[in-house]
Amino acid sequence: MNSSLPRFKNPRAKHDFKGRSCSVSAVGSYVPARILTNADLEKMVDTSHEWIMSRTGIEQRRIAAADEFTSDMAAKAAQIAMKRAGILPEQIELIIVATITPDMLFPSTACLVQKKIGAVRAAAFDVEAACSGFIFGLEIGQQFIMSRTYDTVLVIGAEKLSSIIDWTDRNTCVLFGDGAGAAILQNRPHSHGLLTACMGSDGGRGDLLSMPGGGSRCPATAASVAAKLHYLRMDGKETFKNAVNAMMTAAQEALRRCEIDITKIKCVIPHQANRRIIDAVAERLGATKEQLFVNLERYGNTSAASVAIALDEAVATGRFSRGDLILLIVFGAGLTWGAAVIEW
Ligand SMILES: CC(C)(COP(=O)(O)OP(=O)(O)OC[C@H]1O[C@@H](n2cnc3c(N)ncnc32)[C@H](O)[C@@H]1OP(=O)(O)O)[C@@H](O)C(=O)NCCC(=O)NCCS
Repeated sequence: MNSSLPRFKNPRAKHDFKGRSCSVSAVGSYVPARILTNADLEKMVDTSHEWIMSRTGIEQRRIAAADEFTSDMAAKAAQIAMKRAGILPEQIELIIVATITPDMLFPSTACLVQKKIGAVRAAAFDVEAACSGFIFGLEIGQQFIMSRTYDTVLVIGAEKLSSIIDWTDRNTCVLFGDGAGAAILQNRPHSHGLLTACMGSDGGRGDLLSMPGGGSRCPATAASVAAKLHYLRMDGKETFKNAVNAMMTAAQEALRRCEIDITKIKCVIPHQANRRIIDAVAERLGATKEQLFVNLERYGNTSAASVAIALDEAVATGRFSRGDLILLIVFGAGLTWGAAVIEW
């Protein structure tokens, strides 16, 4: 065994457990080319660059083309991750796509991605946990690997949120963007990997952030479209408060499971929703500016893709090295939340 690995007595830190280990072999991400700046938004709704910057920290976001769908962005991110991991499409045994903006209600976006990348041997399904979806996907993938069901799992967070945004609503349209991030999980005993991923939900507060139309309760009709039921709705203030508390709970649970404190973490990658949420969580956690990775100024909130894109950028910019511990923290509609510790 690699002697540099920290020892984790807690069996819920599942690293190198009974001869299995869930390694994050490689990550990849993709964002669409079109940039929508705060100055562009000033021409669309009654807002200002100063308001958006001071309340959110977002400067610009990426917007997918009309003929570019969630599965296209997901497939591109996946292909980058596969290339970096040195694996062929046929080696992938499971594809999990976390999204709230699937190409269509069915078939799943994961099945559409399977076809696009040629992963002919894989089982494929979607996970719907909103902005927390990538961590939920990592946890599910890890379970399949540790239970010896699969050795190679592709987890993707991908969103075309621009397709469910009311571009006349200044309360929401300034916050979100499009993109995708992917990770290859592999069984690699005695290697670095995903130590723990924890998840939480509170369906009692689902009305804070929702899209009422398009499901079985409210199928699309002329009336539902006119009532704007097919757009994302949010109670910003309440969502903000819940986000800070839930992200704290999740982060503390993940650290507790690994029997470490925040000082052992080299890089904290929180859900990129709002700079003020990130700073409040970091302050309460005792994380320093040097530990924090933030890229929301360039992408806004990309929901399930958010921490996946950030993780890829943190790797690409050398924010940590092999063996360092990193902490991912998420929060989203549902409500849902989660955190993961990875030994890189
Ligand atoms: C949305 C959010 C940025 C608003 O910030 P806030 O400080 O709570 O602002 P308020 O809701 O108090 O709104 C203050 C005023 O700004 C206005 N406002 C809202 N959006 C605006 C915009 N884009 N430009 C200018 N003014 C805006 C509001 O209408 C309100 O005006 P009023 O006082 O005349 O009614 C903030 O609540 C937030 O980030 N919430 C969490 C959102 C989130 O992260 N969601 C995803 C979670 S996964």
